[in-house]
Amino acid sequence: MRTAVHYQVQDHVALLAIDNPPVNALSAAVRQGLLDAVNAAQADDTVHAVLITGVGKAFIAGADIREFGLPPQAPSLPDVCNAIEACSKPVVAAIHGPALGGGLEVAMSAHYRVATSSAKLGLPEVQLGLLPGAGGTQRAPRLIGAQAALDLMLSGRHIGAPEALRMGLIDHIATSDDIQLEGLAYVRHLLSEGAPVRRTSEQTHAMADRAVQQAAINAARADAAKRRGLFSPLKIVDCVQAALDLPFAEGLRTERALFQQCLESPQRAGLIHAFFAEREVLKAPETRYAKPRTIQQVGVIGGGTMGAGIAVAMLDAGLLVTLIERDEAALAQGRARVEKVYDGQIAKSRLTPQGRDDILARLSTSTDYAALSQADLVIEAVFEDMAVKYAVFAQMDRYGKPGAVLATNTSYLDVNAIASSISRPQDVIGLHFFSPAHIMKLLEIVVPAKVSPDVVATAFELARRLKKVPVRAGVCDGFIGNRILATYRTAADHLLEDGASPDEIDQMVRAFGFPIGPYEMSDLAGGDIGWATRKRRAATRDPRARYVHIADRLCEQGWFGQKSGRGWYRYAEGSRTGTPDPEVMAIVEAERAKAGVAPRSFTIEDLQRRYLAAMINEGAKVIEEGIALRPLDVDVTLVHGYGFPRHRGGPMKYADQVGLAQILADIRAFAQTDPLFWKPSALLITLVEAGRDFDSLNKMETPHA
Ligand code: 3HC
Ligand code: NAI
Repeated sequence: MRTAVHYQVQDHVALLAIDNPPVNALSAAVRQGLLDAVNAAQADDTVHAVLITGVGKAFIAGADIREFGLPPQAPSLPDVCNAIEACSKPVVAAIHGPALGGGLEVAMSAHYRVATSSAKLGLPEVQLGLLPGAGGTQRAPRLIGAQAALDLMLSGRHIGAPEALRMGLIDHIATSDDIQLEGLAYVRHLLSEGAPVRRTSEQTHAMADRAVQQAAINAARADAAKRRGLFSPLKIVDCVQAALDLPFAEGLRTERALFQQCLESPQRAGLIHAFFAEREVLKAPETRYAKPRTIQQVGVIGGGTMGAGIAVAMLDAGLLVTLIERDEAALAQGRARVEKVYDGQIAKSRLTPQGRDDILARLSTSTDYAALSQADLVIEAVFEDMAVKYAVFAQMDRYGKPGAVLATNTSYLDVNAIASSISRPQDVIGLHFFSPAHIMKLLEIVVPAKVSPDVVATAFELARRLKKVPVRAGVCDGFIGNRILATYRTAADHLLEDGASPDEIDQMVRAFGFPIGPYEMSDLAGGDIGWATRKRRAATRDPRARYVHIADRLCEQGWFGQKSGRGWYRYAEGSRTGTPDPEVMAIVEAERAKAGVAPRSFTIEDLQRRYLAAMINEGAKVIEEGIALRPLDVDVTLVHGYGFPRHRGGPMKYADQVGLAQILADIRAFAQTDPLFWKPSALLITLVEAGRDFDSLNKMETPHA
């Protein structure tokens, strides 16, 4: 078995080096290794001090997240931290790279801390639905005061060494990156000064002013209460209150009890699922064997909402961008949209005018497609119209250099058809950005049949450079996200016609944890967009499918949402918050009567069950057809592109938590009145019959490789 903690004594200093690649997570073997090493150092009279470092790229990235939910294994991390702190010889933590969560708690249990200038420190447990559970909630306030400790624990942000030094989290910044050397030098310095053992649990100065600490705790409690639905933030505040009120040992007991509650909460399971899913999506099959093409210059065709946002995303990643538009007027508008983003950042002091000018120096514009001849990647974001797409791709084919990746940002159109319309289908791929494209993290990478694997690998590499979360999707109407959206949005319309109001549905969706409901979203985006899509599809719609006309009636009135002052809601001049509109309800009632529906009332649970079941059933169909590689790809898509609450992990994870048998039973019950819409997914049936869940499919080698 490999050694997780190396131990040697060098010139009276015990050197403990944690070696658990890739990030030195505190797995059982590391905890045992640390405990044994501290005990050995304690027992060895020739040892005068102890130095803890990490091997490789990290000090310690925290507890081993893979162990949560499994039976606990001794020694526990709190016991290890207490043993480190109890050591009667000075213990120094020398930090390079990440010292996060349990990693920082180990460091805070040491008596002194030195860090390289590139170290990253933080207590990000809140992002996993947890709290620092190895004494961190008790030691951090004693070291840096309640306010700074709460800020770190509630935001989960990573801080650099200079900020850590300012707040008193570390004692010294090393001059070089050689952590062994620097750590040892610092130990020698401390020994030469006769520095005493200095236990964090015994520190009182940072919390000396009780009133100030209490005020910080009260403010944090008020803030945490606003993070609707999240469990661990308030528990973190409770722990800090305990740090203020109770002796250290009792505070630790409070922390342990509250940590256990967090550990058992479904939010912990959801957030940890999201953490791993966000990393798994990066490993699409093509990324394992194909070499990405080089991308330095990018062409963007269309400077509208999406094209301008995509151009900004590319510029922000340091790429050279050429923006193409139909005519000079549209080109000027496109450039103005890009500039507006940077001017906004200047107004918020996030950018200097010089910084903006430097970025814009990498942007050129033209109405001539010949300007694309040097681009390594050309992406079009022109109107969502197949004839326009064909015409634009013909130009891309004509002017694009050999080997250039040719991409479309289409939301729904057939990428196979687009690819087949030109002479080089192997270079064509879908890059589906979300609005606003420079902010939204999701990038659906739509893989058509004839594309070359290195083009897919290039798209994933591009996503990495753009700091996007990429999800591999197959070709179908709406790919993963918009296809599922279309289904649950239809379920909402059915509920509306069956008796719920837009407001009730929006409230139900927000209560589940989405930031915004479907009708509010429609008013924000503009009802005319969906209307145009519905009109385009009218001819191909299944005549047997239930169709709710209410949205069309609103659009016929010119009620498109916020931009027209009314939509599903009414908006007072300049307001972005709508109020329910009796005239909309009159239209709803008229349509119910026309459809022969006797309206009924729904509880919020009824509404949620149908809305979520529609989402899950379509998600299962998307997996069954190979449009999504695994359930986790659906989860990441809905979380990062559609506002599905991350603490629930995603719709497929949520389905597992509810139980697939229950979901299927619901779908079958709903199918009694509408068997076409509620046709259960074959995959869902298979899983229920086999007693399996969606997560069992995540664990398989990529099934569609
Ligand atoms: N436990 C187990 N595995 C971990 C891990 C952890 N704490 N942190 C990272 N990993 C794994 C990742 O899953 C990934 O595995 P893969 O290669 O199989 O996909 C691998 O390590 C590398 O991680 P990244 O791809 O994320 O590497 P980066 O270099 O981009 O980022 C990082 C490194 C900043 C350390 C980032 O991984 C990270 O933020 N990790 C989580 C840190 C964290 O949340 N720590 C708190 C844990 S909870 C805790 O400590 C509880 C305690 O209070 C009791
Ligand atoms: P938009 O209408 O804001 O912009 C389209 C732009 O393309 C216009 O500026 C127009 O002048 C330009 N254009 C049209 N034909 C052109 C041509 N032949 N050559 C050069 N420029 C041309 O539309 P939007 O919203 O930016 O959408 C663009 C594409 O992105 C569509 O395919 C859409 O489905 C897709 N999309 C839209 C999202 C959204 O939320 N708006 C989200 C994701 C994808």
